[in-house]
This record gives sequence, structure tokens and C-alpha cells, in this order.
Amino acid sequence: MTRPAPKTFHVKSFGCQMNVYDGERMTEMLGAEGMVATPEAEADLVVFNTCHIRERAAERVYSEIGRQRREDGTRPMIAMAGCVAQAEGTEVTRRTKDVDIVVGPQAYHALPQMIERATRGERVHDLDLPGLEKFGKLPVRKRTGASAFLTVQEGCDKFCTYCVVPYTRGGEISRSFEAIVDEAKALVDGGAKEITLLGQNVNAWSEGPNGLDHLIRALDKISGLERIRYMTSHPNDMTEGLIQAHADVEKLMPFLHLPVQSGSDRILKAMNRKHTAASYLAIMDRVRAVRPDIAVSGDFIVGFPGETEAEFEETLNIIRATNYALAFSFKYSSRPGTPAATMDGHIAPEIMDDRLERLQALLNQQQLAFNEASVGQRVKVLLERNGKLPGQKIGKTPWLQSVHVMTDAQIGDMVDVNLVSAGPNSLAGSLADKELNVA
Ligand code: SAH
Ligand code: SF4
Ligand code: F3S
Repeated sequence: MTRPAPKTFHVKSFGCQMNVYDGERMTEMLGAEGMVATPEAEADLVVFNTCHIRERAAERVYSEIGRQRREDGTRPMIAMAGCVAQAEGTEVTRRTKDVDIVVGPQAYHALPQMIERATRGERVHDLDLPGLEKFGKLPVRKRTGASAFLTVQEGCDKFCTYCVVPYTRGGEISRSFEAIVDEAKALVDGGAKEITLLGQNVNAWSEGPNGLDHLIRALDKISGLERIRYMTSHPNDMTEGLIQAHADVEKLMPFLHLPVQSGSDRILKAMNRKHTAASYLAIMDRVRAVRPDIAVSGDFIVGFPGETEAEFEETLNIIRATNYALAFSFKYSSRPGTPAATMDGHIAPEIMDDRLERLQALLNQQQLAFNEASVGQRVKVLLERNGKLPGQKIGKTPWLQSVHVMTDAQIGDMVDVNLVSAGPNSLAGSLADKELNVA
């Protein structure tokens, strides 16, 4: 069946920040093709930029696709992009007739041609993993928010036994220094004050002998750029150079997202993490020695196959020893094709629920304590968006805490704020020196 070429579109991203970045680039590209971004319900084309990391995330997209049928029985053209597309491939079109285009995370620069073929009634797939090709084919970045994402590294060679990423995103690959610096400058010209460098293993970025710290030091020199962040890092790629950058690069924010997953060496080994609880804590010591105020965040999995109560308690212990400012925690989800899926000792759902609840209670307590300790301080807040109340803005401290503040300063302004109260997920502040902040 042929259909009219879509004039409007909507990109919906699920999953990690790298998907958010890819979604933004798809939006920019389709815009450059003359299509207009609209709300989902009105779009001629809906792109689902999917996540395969846990079963629930992956399944949700099929119910979303099912809901695209409109009252008159028609549906928009539907493209499935991202990690479910890559992992399930042609299986997608077997599971649902409502997907016209299946495109992997390294092939979406081909979307315009794929859309053209789909208007002729073809079902189109592109699941190649051509590495960095897409970056060279996407339009130059233009307008952006105060805080922008920039993917510098893709893929993963670590093969943690629970994880689909090495299969959905391919092997570790670094974009060139030059391409990254150019994109960073374009983002700053487009209004970005903060750039978060992204990669599934961002601290594995390298070019010749140079590691991520070299790149950070170069970005530090871009005038107009005020803050640099990076995520997600793997403990084994935490070099001395990168740790040192936290001591002496002024624009590098005092925040480190360094997932440990478990505090049990036996489980870490079964996960193929290639680090131990002690080696992780040693990294924390080194980072805190050079940057004592650094805020640390992490990811945790409870209920990995075979995890005993005592091993779970070792995870609680490493949380106590590290003291997290922010954390993301998950129940183990068995993923097809990963080694852990066929391991013995899968944990009953009610045990996982209980462990997750106890783990999150501890992490929430730490998060609240971290925020409460900031009350009374005067900090720089980068205003990123409007709050719910008239005149209210929401911004971030250097430690990535969200702050609500009443001000007529603009989004993108850096303001001095006195922090007055704290909750587990955000703080409230008042403008410190009104005169100084009128830019
Ligand atoms: N590259 C990053 C992040 C990968 S995905 C890293 O190595 O840390 C983000 C998080 O999802 C992981 O850190 C892990 O905590 C979680 N995750 C990955 N696979 C999972 C699975 N099968 N079940 C539950 N959580 C999982
Ligand atoms: Fe997944 Fe492990 Fe790679 Fe992170 S390091 S993306 S958890 S395989
Ligand atoms: Fe999900 Fe793919 Fe990111 S599986 S977490 S969207 S890399």
C-alpha cells in the first residue's frame, strides 16, 4: 500500500541519554528534510527510539505501537529505531504489522531514504552497524537547550553477562577529537552552557595515546562553555589522567557516575565486571583525594542469578562505604542471548522486590543526607527550564542537584543561589544577589 509522504513527525525516545541524543539528532535531521515536529497524536510519522536493557522497557514499545491506531482506523507511518530494533531485527515485523521501518542505532542517518521507500509501501530494514558513519551525515547542530548532550563514544566491549548493550550498540568506538570539538563549538554557538559527554563507556574514549581527559582539557578552552560532565564510566577505564582532571579542570563538574552493580566479588565475577569491590573503593579514594567534594552516583542490580542474602548485604555495605549522592537501581532482568540468562539460580520476584526496597531505602537516605548537607550553602545554579509556578525556574548545582528558584533571570543564566531546603530529589533556593544576576 502506498501512502502520502509524511509531512509531520514525532520522535519518542526511551532508555539512556545516548538514546535521547540520537532522538535529538533524528529530530534535527527530519526537520532539515522539511518535515515539521508535532505532538505524537497528530504526527504522520512516529519514530519509537527504543531501549532493550530490561524486559519491561523492551515490551512497552509494542503496546505503544498498538495504541497508534486512530479512531478512523488509520495509523501513522511507524519507524522503530534504537536498541530493540537492533536486537530483534526482522523479528519486529513478525511481531507486529504496524511497523514500516526498522532502523538500528548506527543507521538512522538513512531514515529519509527509508521513509521514501516506506511511502511506496515497502517494509524497510537497516540494521547495519557501520560505526561512526552516521555522525558525518547528520546536519550540524543548531539551537539547543542550556545543557546539551554530545555522544563521543559508542558501544561496549565489556560483555557484562547480564547486558545487551554490546549486542545492540556494537563494539567500543571513539569519535574523532576534531569532530567532537566542532560539535561542541556548534552546541555552544546554539546556546549550550553545559555539555555532557556521552558514551556507553565514555571514559574508554581514546584517540592514539590520548584519553578522555585530553578531550575534556580541550573543551575547557571553549569560551562560552561553562560546565563539562561525562557519563557513563566503567571502573576499569578510570585512568589517573581522568582522575587528575577532576583536580585541575575548572569547568569539569564535581560529579562522577561510576556504576558498581554489586558489592560481592563472587557476583561481580559472575557478572564479568572485571573489577572487585575493593578496586572500586580504591578508585573512590583516589578521586576523593583530588576532589573531596565530588558527588558520586552509581547503578545497582539486585537479584543477579545466584545472589544470596549475604551477597546482597555486601552490596548494602559498599553503598555504606561509598556514600552516594544519586543512584539508579534495578531488579535483574533476564535478557535473551546474554550469558546470565542461562545461569542457574534465578531469584524469585518477591525476593528481588524485597532486596530492591531495602537497597533503595538506603540510597534514598544517602541522597537526602547529601542534599540536606548542602542547605545553607551559596552555589552556582545553571537555569535549565521553567518550573510549575509562575516565575519559577529549575536549574542544577555543580553536583547535579535540581534546584527550584523564583527568579526573572533567563533559562541559560548562571545565578548565585542560597540553598534553603532539601528533599531527596531536589532543593529549593533563593536568589543570592539580585543585582549581580541581572545579566
Ligand atoms: N555502560 C553503563 C550502563 C549500561 S546500562 C555501565 O556499564 O554501567 C545502565 C544500567 O542498567 C547498568 O549500569 C545496569 O545497572 C542496568 N542493567 C543493565 N542490564 C541489566 C539487566 N539485564 N537487568 C537489570 N539491570 C540491568
Ligand atoms: Fe553493559 Fe557492562 Fe557494557 Fe555497561 S560495561 S554497557 S553494563 S556490558
Ligand atoms: Fe537502552 Fe540501548 Fe541505552 S538498550 S540503555 S537505549 S544503549
